Amino acid sequence: MKIDILTVQPELLESPFAHSILKRAKEKKLLEVNVHNLRNWAVNEHGQVDDYQYGGGAGMVMMCEPLANAIEFLSRESQFDEIIYMTPDGCPFNQKTANRLSLKKNLLILCGHYKGIDERIRQNFITMEISIGDYVLSGGELPAAVLVDAIGRLLPGVLNDETSALFDSFQDSLLAPPVYTRPADFRSMRVPEILLSGDPKKVDEWRQEQSWLRTKARRPDLLDG
Ligand code: ADE
Repeated sequence: MKIDILTVQPELLESPFAHSILKRAKEKKLLEVNVHNLRNWAVNEHGQVDDYQYGGGAGMVMMCEPLANAIEFLSRESQFDEIIYMTPDGCPFNQKTANRLSLKKNLLILCGHYKGIDERIRQNFITMEISIGDYVLSGGELPAAVLVDAIGRLLPGVLNDETSALFDSFQDSLLAPPVYTRPADFRSMRVPEILLSGDPKKVDEWRQEQSWLRTKARRPDLLDG
């Protein structure tokens, strides 16, 4: 999979992909991430990519011209399956969307800034708008990193234990059960006996029950329907 990211702050995206699982995904050539500086398509030599909003009001708006030129330039190199705009008024991101996007070949992610981007770009170039939660961050870079992480770890071969992504919270609309490691007794707090029983069937039943109890207590909305 190849993911292109368009941003006015490329330096914010240097670290997230340089470590751990995403680093491994890149080394194994399972994932390619290219970060592009939108200022390469600025409207003047000052690197301008934003302007005041029509109708007045505080905050700058990212201009059509640099965005359209950048998207068209990058689209000549790749046939994008989705052109995604990260924005707090987008559709809420969830595991189902991560699963769906992990099956795509080429994605372009656009990071918003300031007041957002000109509506004409949203209407005519963007194919998906995604929010990572009901709060406002100062730009779309961290949300883009969240998206790439959630997608990247689902690519076949990226995780060491191939099956482990299947048991993540949310994969079956349930939260993950509690987990324990050694020692079995830590300051008189004991690991549940059933996990030490060596009976895989019982362990499995216990985990399913714990998943359900945890979901019911913390996220009953996931059990609706
Ligand atoms: N940009 C700023 N806040 C955001 C959010 N919550 N989700 C996606 N993009 C954003």
